[in-house]
Amino acid sequence: MARVYLDSRRVIGALDRNLFGSFLEHLGRAIYEGIYDPVSKLSDANGFRKDVMEEVRQMGVPIIRYPGGNFVSGYNWLDGVGPKESRPRVLDKAWNSINSNQFGTNEFMAWCKAVGAEPLMGLNLGTGTAEEAAALVEYCNSDQGTKWSDLRRKHGFSEPYGVKRWCLGNEMDGPWQIGHMTATEYGMKAQDAARQMRYVDPSLQLIACGSSGPFMPTYLEWDREVLEQCYDYVDGLSLHRYFTNSPQDTGGDSSKFLAMNLSMEQQIEETIAVCDLVRGHKRSPKRLWLSFDEWNVWYRARTGDATNGHRQQAPHLLEEVYNLEDALLVGGLVNSLLRHADRIKVACLAQLINVIAPVMTNSSGLLRQTIYYPYKWALQYGRGAVLNLLVESPTYEVSKLGQVPYVDVAGTMSAQDGKVAIFALNRDLSKAHVVEINWQDRTPGQVLVSTVLTGGDLKASNTFDSPQKVAPQTFAKPSTSGGRTKLELPARSYTVIQWSG
Ligand code: AHR
Repeated sequence: MARVYLDSRRVIGALDRNLFGSFLEHLGRAIYEGIYDPVSKLSDANGFRKDVMEEVRQMGVPIIRYPGGNFVSGYNWLDGVGPKESRPRVLDKAWNSINSNQFGTNEFMAWCKAVGAEPLMGLNLGTGTAEEAAALVEYCNSDQGTKWSDLRRKHGFSEPYGVKRWCLGNEMDGPWQIGHMTATEYGMKAQDAARQMRYVDPSLQLIACGSSGPFMPTYLEWDREVLEQCYDYVDGLSLHRYFTNSPQDTGGDSSKFLAMNLSMEQQIEETIAVCDLVRGHKRSPKRLWLSFDEWNVWYRARTGDATNGHRQQAPHLLEEVYNLEDALLVGGLVNSLLRHADRIKVACLAQLINVIAPVMTNSSGLLRQTIYYPYKWALQYGRGAVLNLLVESPTYEVSKLGQVPYVDVAGTMSAQDGKVAIFALNRDLSKAHVVEINWQDRTPGQVLVSTVLTGGDLKASNTFDSPQKVAPQTFAKPSTSGGRTKLELPARSYTVIQWSG
């Protein structure tokens, strides 16, 4: 039996809603056909797909990164503003695709407002200069009376947008990145951009590019060198990670795959250690936070034609089909992010629509992929503060990770209304596990939500013809007596329970 000890006085930290943000890149069918499709009968007068907006609004996605990704490192933001008929058709050299530029900064701001999300703007520090980055900040945030703020006004947008958070480039450590450079070169460029941007708007929060992942030969050393250059000028450091269940990585072993969120935690802790090391070098009072601004499962649609747009607009790129086991790992990844909510202030599920996405579109509607559910539950039920739970569980051995608990539980509690939510992954592929929750300082109210994602076939996915193959099922409401709640988590499952205060 697994045991969870829950004491509402013991918390990890306040849960920033932006921990469950997402990402939209000019890539494949994410923007064109995905959120913007002026010829679709499902679109409004702006060309925005109404069904997509409604879905994103009701999911409650708090912050959305845009416009890339690899795309941003070759993007000239000026191509995407001003009269639509004058905007150039441009070859995007990150994904070998055509960008008509009919959707640009002002359209993204309007779309974000319509779905209730904050923009997290990416800047081109590949082919772009620090001056161009500062010009975009001025275009977006200055009221009037300067070259770029007046240009925005001339384009018909009198109100500044007040964009608060900005990413200083994307994956600049990667040889695949347009404008790739050394850590010192990038750190100096990020410092220059940050300084110029802060003259325009001192209230900005800036995120420097950290390592693209532990697979990089420069992992952590890149982060250290970059921060040695720009620590004093930035607020956060980015990290990225995509998980795979490929023969090369896990040998296709699903029980190993379901433990990979623990490897994400290792990456988070190592990156925090580097931030704090440089903090020590600098004798700085400032503590950086992390922006885990790309995370997901992604390995099937990752090579060849799945990543080459062949000079088409809106090609089918990175259209990963997600199955049950992917959704279970995404649940585990949600738990890992929650457990590090004290240092991660922004994180983005990569991505949101059509491209490695929880939501797919076709000309007549939407499809919720399997990973939609754990992500949606995090958005819906993760509230208030993250609880510092003590979890005891039987374990199994995973190479490189050691003893891995079968049961992985995270929880939140809202001080406002006393609602408690727990998110529980059962990694055991063949057996149910009983979990006893021990309420240390309070007893819960009634069960408001009790739902589970599970199934007999780990490889099952949803399709437009069969959209409910992997969907939430009702989980019998557990009862509480004597300060204890017992529940039985089915094999291969991710469960959410919410209690009233
Ligand atoms: O999200 C897809 C791609 O993955 C992004 O463009 C890039 O930043 C990462 O390598």
